[in-house]
Amino acid sequence: MRETGDDALAQHLATLQERYAAALAASGYDALILGAGCEEHYFLDDQGPPFRPNPCLAQWFPAAAHPGACLAWRPGEHPVAVLLQIEDYWRLPPEPPGTPWDRHIEFRFVREPDEIESALPAWPGRVARVGPPGQWPDAAASADLNPPALLDALHYPRAVKTDWEVARIRDATRAAVAGHRAVASAFADGASEFEMLLAFQSAARQTAAELPYPAIIAGDRNAATLHYQHYRRDAAPARSLLVDAGCQSLGYASDITRSYARPAEPEFARLIAGLERLQQALCKRVAPGLPFARLHHAAHVLLGQLLEREGLVRAPAEAIVATGVTRLFFPHGLGHLLGLQVHDVGGQLASADGRRLKPPEVYPKLRLLRELAPGFVLTIEPGLYFIDSLLRELRRHELGPRVDWSRIERLRDCGGIRIEDNLLVTGDGAINLTREAFAAADEAG
Ligand code: GLY
Ligand code: MN
Ligand code: MN
Repeated sequence: MRETGDDALAQHLATLQERYAAALAASGYDALILGAGCEEHYFLDDQGPPFRPNPCLAQWFPAAAHPGACLAWRPGEHPVAVLLQIEDYWRLPPEPPGTPWDRHIEFRFVREPDEIESALPAWPGRVARVGPPGQWPDAAASADLNPPALLDALHYPRAVKTDWEVARIRDATRAAVAGHRAVASAFADGASEFEMLLAFQSAARQTAAELPYPAIIAGDRNAATLHYQHYRRDAAPARSLLVDAGCQSLGYASDITRSYARPAEPEFARLIAGLERLQQALCKRVAPGLPFARLHHAAHVLLGQLLEREGLVRAPAEAIVATGVTRLFFPHGLGHLLGLQVHDVGGQLASADGRRLKPPEVYPKLRLLRELAPGFVLTIEPGLYFIDSLLRELRRHELGPRVDWSRIERLRDCGGIRIEDNLLVTGDGAINLTREAFAAADEAG
């Protein structure tokens, strides 16, 4: 396939080099060194968290197994990467990326961290470094370490994925869809949150350290915590489940959420169906030229209509939205860019020169404000939650007396709903990568 083969990687790396050349020129640098970062230890310990490479470096080659790695590049030159191959009988030295990356990048190998610098090419001129400062303590105070103008110029074009990157996100999606299908059947069988986590990882074939973010597996009330971080082992969810779990492939992430109700919860199931329709209506509107803040507002308008239609708030949808009630049920952004990071960078940049977009006053924290363009991969993830602290605010709100509190009290036990798909913006609309993968899995049986 064109987008997964060596041609696609060659094209990806050619695009990267064009972007890097423009970014270096705009920020006044002649060459650049990217650092993967180093492994860290917990306080007073010789153990540490799983290593995560600098995403800027991971865009050139898969670097998850290569703490300490560096890549040097200068316009017109072949990129050179230096990898550590420590001779060690405690841990297996990591496999180098190999083919096809070695057709495009020269890999050099050293035995010790302090040999890395001298193995890098010595190019003349101003050299910028991009990476975690801990990797270069001597350069920590240097203006050439992570210069903001260079970072902005690199982050802005990263929103547009190459064909090769889209293929990686598709791989990550396929793995996560296998995991989600396993979770759905484990939920139906009465599994606990912990058992569903294991079901996800087993079907997705990813370790916890490989997942792009800790899987959120929230039964009942736990779904009212947006990033619920525990895995109950002692009891199966009685009524409902929210599972927000993605996978990664060669450093690229998927980020998918589904919500479920038991047959004994028809009222909550109807709300899930309503939110699903709303989410699909929003997905249909994803197209180039659309400012994302406008779609976020459209989500609030549709949610206001759902709350009115369901009789949860006995007021016109316009008033429900205008007085901020929908923000008490849906307190996060509609979506974000997705790629090397789950919350990929650059969503608030107006241009490569670092100007920022101003968020709407009522939605000050949106991660994504840009006008959508072909090649963007983003999430669409509306939610509807029954969060105690926000319900207390709602009680004091001018529309508080118009809320059907007895129904809210019942629904509160189910926590909340989120439905999240990943979309690729095309020339005239979008492809829903998540639905595409679920459909293919359903067809395969
Ligand atoms: N899984 C984190 C998010 O949806 O943004
Ligand atoms: Mn997300
Ligand atoms: Mn998510």
